[in-house]
Amino acid sequence: MAITSEQADTKPQQPTSNSSSSSSPPNPFKFWFFLTLSVSLITPLFISLSSLSPQDSKSWFLSLPTSLRQHYSNGRIIKVQITPNQPTIEVFTLQEGPVSSLDNVLILHGLGCSSYSFSKISKTLGLKGVRVIAVDLPGSGFSEKSSVVVEDIGGGVLGRVWEIYYDVKEKGIFWGFDQLVEQGYIDFEEKEAVRVTKREVTREIVLGSDEMGRVLRQVIDSMGLVNVDLVLHDSAFTLGANWVLENSGSVRSVTILDGTPKVTALPLWVLDVPVVREVVLGFKFVFESVIARFCSRSVGGMDVEANRIFLKSRNGRKSVVGMGKSLNYSLDLAEWGSSDSVKGLPMQVIWSSVWSEEWTEEGRRVAKALPQATFVTHSGGRWPQEDKADELAKTIYQFVSSLPKPVQKVVEDPIAGHIHKMFDESQNGAHHHHHDHAQGVGEGHAHGHDHAAGYVNAYGLNDGWGK
Ligand SMILES: *[C@@H]1O[C@H](CO)[C@@H](O)[C@H](O)[C@H]1NC(C)=O
Repeated sequence: MAITSEQADTKPQQPTSNSSSSSSPPNPFKFWFFLTLSVSLITPLFISLSSLSPQDSKSWFLSLPTSLRQHYSNGRIIKVQITPNQPTIEVFTLQEGPVSSLDNVLILHGLGCSSYSFSKISKTLGLKGVRVIAVDLPGSGFSEKSSVVVEDIGGGVLGRVWEIYYDVKEKGIFWGFDQLVEQGYIDFEEKEAVRVTKREVTREIVLGSDEMGRVLRQVIDSMGLVNVDLVLHDSAFTLGANWVLENSGSVRSVTILDGTPKVTALPLWVLDVPVVREVVLGFKFVFESVIARFCSRSVGGMDVEANRIFLKSRNGRKSVVGMGKSLNYSLDLAEWGSSDSVKGLPMQVIWSSVWSEEWTEEGRRVAKALPQATFVTHSGGRWPQEDKADELAKTIYQFVSSLPKPVQKVVEDPIAGHIHKMFDESQNGAHHHHHDHAQGVGEGHAHGHDHAAGYVNAYGLNDGWGK
């Protein structure tokens, strides 16, 4: 019995240990070998596909097609502060038409395209005597796409972990125990004043509604655009709607160009999902077919390729994706249009009538939500097409030139009045409540500063930022 059981035990053991000793050592080796091999094969493929990191801006610029470089040289860079207490960023603006014109059109493009898509429309409008400014939104086109932000690492759980890590690294593992024994707790607080709890990080620029407002205010002020006619394309409408609501006094009219809060023309997931985004941005023909499917029908010219180039450069893709995520898709058009400050504004909706059934249907909904708007259709796509530029320019021109001309007058008046009013209010408050005094004056001052700042800060001279 004992022998047979031993034999029975050893017999099956023998082959298994044999087979495992003969085949298992190569197994992990094979596994790691293949993993290393595939990673080393796939990584360069991905790097070459994405190639989102050109060496430096100069060589990137020199590698651009001539028409894009020409576009750049026709424009002008202005400094805009999009976040309080952070450095200004460079915003590219294209200007066409006579500066003395009484019609000032400001064009803002939707996510994924740039002022380049509007260069022909701008030129045509300029030739008709309209002053046009087309802006590359921060994160798009030639505008800056990333900024160096100073981050606090002191706050949050991670910051805390870092602090403890640094403390332990500095003073040794036993320092904490010593403290525990001496005081009953570990005194990390004391260290905070001494250590640098801030660091600089490069981040892609993501414009939300507030940041968009600051861009609008500072572009308008630095360019001296009195009574501006806004042309808001695609998602630029959703981004700018809030600012229009709060600053309708600076606006003469609003033109919505194929824009609805519900969707962006370019589906932003194609720029977000790994591998898909590399393929879409990596291959010209893939990008072109995506644009042809969702945005515009003119394929082949630089007007499509330019967008791919901009999205590929630096943090272009990340910026656009980030902005798409922060859009207010539930913005209520009817509520916006019927609000006291907006309902009196001359408004025009220009809509593609040839794109798709759904898009035409969406246009009807937009027109219904904004009964005060003139509704005009066009025969291009949801992004401006080079071959339809004249048509769009004509529609914009007819609308803008029909509006009452502003009386040329000193602009500072209403703003100065506003500051005085704010200041008076705050002083009135001071007589009644001591606590309100400090708060009121503080607010009044901040407001006055904001408005006054708009006229200076375009030159990057102070830290004010208009809203
Ligand atoms: C989005 O729009 C809705 C409707 O207009 C509004 O109530 C809401 O406050 C907006 N959300 C943000 C984050 O602005």
